[in-house]
Amino acid sequence: MSVSSPESGSRQVEAPEHPAASRWSAPTATATGAVGRRARTEDRRPRRLPGVERTHTRPAEPRTAVVWAALREETDRRGTNLVVIDVGGGTGGFAVPLAEAGHRVTVVDASPDALAALTRRAAEAGVAGRVAAVQGDGDRLAELVPAGSADLILCHSLLEVVDDPAGVVGALASTLRPGGAVSVVVANRAAAVLSRAMSGHLGVAAALLSDPAGRAGAGDKLRRRFDPAGATALLGTAGLVVERIQGVRVVADLVPGAVADADPDTLLALELIAAELPPYRDIATQLHLFARKP
Ligand SMILES: C[S@@+](CC[C@H](N)C(=O)[O-])C[C@H]1O[C@@H](n2cnc3c(N)ncnc32)[C@H](O)[C@@H]1O
Repeated sequence: MSVSSPESGSRQVEAPEHPAASRWSAPTATATGAVGRRARTEDRRPRRLPGVERTHTRPAEPRTAVVWAALREETDRRGTNLVVIDVGGGTGGFAVPLAEAGHRVTVVDASPDALAALTRRAAEAGVAGRVAAVQGDGDRLAELVPAGSADLILCHSLLEVVDDPAGVVGALASTLRPGGAVSVVVANRAAAVLSRAMSGHLGVAAALLSDPAGRAGAGDKLRRRFDPAGATALLGTAGLVVERIQGVRVVADLVPGAVADADPDTLLALELIAAELPPYRDIATQLHLFARKP
């Protein structure tokens, strides 16, 4: 596994907020909070829902199943040994399973700690030779990876925090080969508005709704949020053609933990169906856009 470290502006970002998490986490909340909720998810037995799981060895999980289903469709169609770049790929939650599926994955991330965790994870999975780590800022992607080299690029939860999202999207497009695809996940403004309102922060919800960038004020950890039209337009400015928009975590973040535990298969199936259907899609925590370079 190779790690390169061009100088970069290193910034950290937390995962986007989950709508209504504060409302619904109460019945299962413990002193461990989110850790307890994560442990519940990881304890689940592998699910065998058709069409979701074959790209990786881990259980299909409602919070990421929609994204994995789209990625699997693409990789099944294009074959193995694809050149994949995961910009802001963090600790390799997507990169390592894609390497396990036979692809060559380069993760570009600003955080040395995340890349160190990625390195360990890839080694433990036995795919260190198919995963490269490059430390750098997403805003400088064009300087970090060769133009026209990628079959598939992942850009998940990054466009909310970079300085210049249009510049990053332009670099995504120039890094793709013709016919290559990009998987983009962004925070959905509508979900954030509803989340704040449901947790009683009505003023913050109103601010989020009216702010041009979809921010909740100066202390907001995200620099912007998106809606389907805005995200589609952003990709379109770089010449990328959006083929599909899905909602990610339409219901998975809303249901009480006890419900999710009691019937995870139905939750997974519901998540996959709702993902494509407005208005459910449009209130999901995140939006997933799958786009292609002509
Ligand atoms: C919320 S995590 C998402 C990780 C992964 N993409 C996923 O969806 O599971 C965001 C990641 O982006 C990285 N990041 C934040 N700002 C960045 C920037 N300007 N350039 C490159 N990476 C950045 C963080 O270090 C972190 O690993």
